[in-house]
Amino acid sequence: MGERLLMVRDLKTYFYSDIGIAKAVDGISFSVAPGEAVGIVGESGCGKSVTARSIMRLVDYPGRIVGGQILFRGEDLLTLGEQEMRRFRGGHIAMIFQDPLTTLNPVLTVGDQIVEAINLHHGNGTLRGSELLGSLNPFARKRMQEKAWARAIEMMEHVGISVPEQRMKEYPHQFSGGMRQRVMIAVALSCNPSLLIADEPTTALDVTVQAQILELMGQLRSDLDMAIILITHDLGVVAEFCDRIIVMYAGKIVEVGTVDDILFRPKHPYTKGLLRSVPKLGDRRHRIQSIPGVVPELHALPTGCRFHTRCSLATKRCALDEPPLTEIEDGHEVSCFRGTA
Ligand SMILES: Nc1ncnc2c1ncn2[C@@H]1O[C@H](COP(=O)(O)OP(=O)(O)OP(=O)(O)O)[C@@H](O)[C@H]1O
Ligand SMILES: [Mg+2]
Repeated sequence: MGERLLMVRDLKTYFYSDIGIAKAVDGISFSVAPGEAVGIVGESGCGKSVTARSIMRLVDYPGRIVGGQILFRGEDLLTLGEQEMRRFRGGHIAMIFQDPLTTLNPVLTVGDQIVEAINLHHGNGTLRGSELLGSLNPFARKRMQEKAWARAIEMMEHVGISVPEQRMKEYPHQFSGGMRQRVMIAVALSCNPSLLIADEPTTALDVTVQAQILELMGQLRSDLDMAIILITHDLGVVAEFCDRIIVMYAGKIVEVGTVDDILFRPKHPYTKGLLRSVPKLGDRRHRIQSIPGVVPELHALPTGCRFHTRCSLATKRCALDEPPLTEIEDGHEVSCFRGTA
């Protein structure tokens, strides 16, 4: 299987509330190799973002990671203190979100935000960048700021923003949606992460800009030899962009394989359903067959296979036993009693 950059083992992230425990991520295991692009797909609410946030250890209250391991180059992120975790976040692992407006600070210039991200990781492991800056003599401080500013300009150029010196002084609202997403990517990449997690990075953008951003991410991926976890609803996007695809349903992984495994040899009825619900290019009748039913409530999950309530192939056994994720051919794993036949 070769060297692994990230190994997630039996990860469980639950949300606790009055109505019960929502098992948003419920025992998932997967890995990412250095430089590899892995897509995570599945309907809304199946646990994609919670998976991403768990890796960054940014799960919102009332959520909690209750089990498993997240090994990054062999080191379990779940055992790190908050300060050590900061070294990973943005340094080795960076994340970009769907809506840059909620992540960028509206009252700081774009340049200041990239500089801040750069400085944050010029910290010495104990001091944050800003604290480190404060502890320096004025000359050293000026020099460090100038270096960070030059690096920020370089990053802006790298992500295709023209006249970067000028645009560094502008505020997020002065940028178009696509340009803001480029700024987000510049912030995320300013510290040369070896893993970038992109959660629906292009969903809010129109199709042309979406294609440009994906092309940019693909370019940066090969320039910087960076692995990417790309989360999206769009199977077309993962098919273009990724090496492997993880299909999630109701907090579980139901199928994993190469893009070809998933597109040409899908085994799980849920994967097949997702593929059928993609509109075909040129099909003017738009006969999209959506999967009947909805994702079950995560605090009241069905017994057995979580998909059995919506599955046309389900048998009695599917309602009783939970099918384990099983490797059916090299690197192609499926959790289905019927799909593996
Ligand atoms: N802040 C929260 N409070 C309570 N429950 C939450 C919270 N965030 C997520 N959950 C639970 O986790 C489930 C999975 O959420 P998640 O955001 O991972 O879905 P997703 O697959 O990313 O969906 P989408 O495609 O809509 O982004 C939700 O359905 C919800 O039950
Ligand atoms: Mg999400």
